[in-house]
Amino acid sequence: MTIFAPKPRKGIVLAGGTGTRLYPLTLGTSKQLLPVFDKPLIYYPLSTLILAGVREVLFITTPEDQAAFRRLLGDGSHWGMSFDYAVQAEPRGLADAYVIGRDFLDGAPSVLILGDNIFFGHGLQAMLERAAAREDATIFASHVRDPRSFGVVEMNADHQALSLEEKPERPRSNWAVTGLYFLDGSAPDRAAQVMPSARGEVEIVSVLQDYLAESRLSVETLHRGFTWLDAGTHESLHQAGEFVQTLQDRQGLLVCSPEELAYRRGLITLDALELLAVKLKKSSYGQSLAELVAHEKSQR
Ligand code: TTP
Repeated sequence: MTIFAPKPRKGIVLAGGTGTRLYPLTLGTSKQLLPVFDKPLIYYPLSTLILAGVREVLFITTPEDQAAFRRLLGDGSHWGMSFDYAVQAEPRGLADAYVIGRDFLDGAPSVLILGDNIFFGHGLQAMLERAAAREDATIFASHVRDPRSFGVVEMNADHQALSLEEKPERPRSNWAVTGLYFLDGSAPDRAAQVMPSARGEVEIVSVLQDYLAESRLSVETLHRGFTWLDAGTHESLHQAGEFVQTLQDRQGLLVCSPEELAYRRGLITLDALELLAVKLKKSSYGQSLAELVAHEKSQR
């Protein structure tokens, strides 16, 4: 008898888009390369993927920006990971990530995260691990004041999804669907079936509705005090930076550092982390990594 090991879950960061709400900042560069205090925005979603236990990541960018992403992130080996790159010529919609990522995924289950989504809070790792262990699809919902500009999920008292709608005029709940999706190996086939919506995009909600119709969609709700930010406007980008600065200053701990998370997940050794810190030593980010190294050494 042959036993087939399940394929490891792979990650996709969708980091294309036009960033029109951030003009003129994004006329010359990608939104996801802009700073959120001490690190590029893309580090935050990437950190979430590392926390979810992913080692192989595909970055989908615009054709113009790919070279800059490669310069920043390389092949991932310095962080004990493996990075691939693909382009999205036009922002055709979020479901397009699975069409572009089909060969990369090669039938594996996946985690898709939007390049401008920041998740931070207690219990995130446990939630991500629960989602990663499920064969069914998982989405993450966050309570928002005005859900009309989001995908909206309606749930019963047990937090089971009842309906999903994209940017509804009259939302059935205040639960917004965040930009983090755990889907199984069938996602590319499902995404390929999606027809563009009235606004001309292939909607991720259509893919999720497919899972919902088969009762294969789980929802994790982000509790009070959990932070979910998308850095899509000048105000939210600035607020995100202030949030990270305040927290790091107060706690003396880095928020969403891929180097730290790679070390904590055992992808790189302490010696490797030290080398990374030395390279960045002139910045406060590098100094924080050096402090982490010193602390870890003192614990040995
Ligand atoms: P949006 O914020 O919806 O779009 P955008 O980044 O182009 O910005 P704007 O609305 O200001 O023009 O996108 C959310 C995230 O998803 C963002 O990280 C970009 C990414 N994205 C793509 O990479 N491709 C797409 O087709 C879409 C719709 C979004």
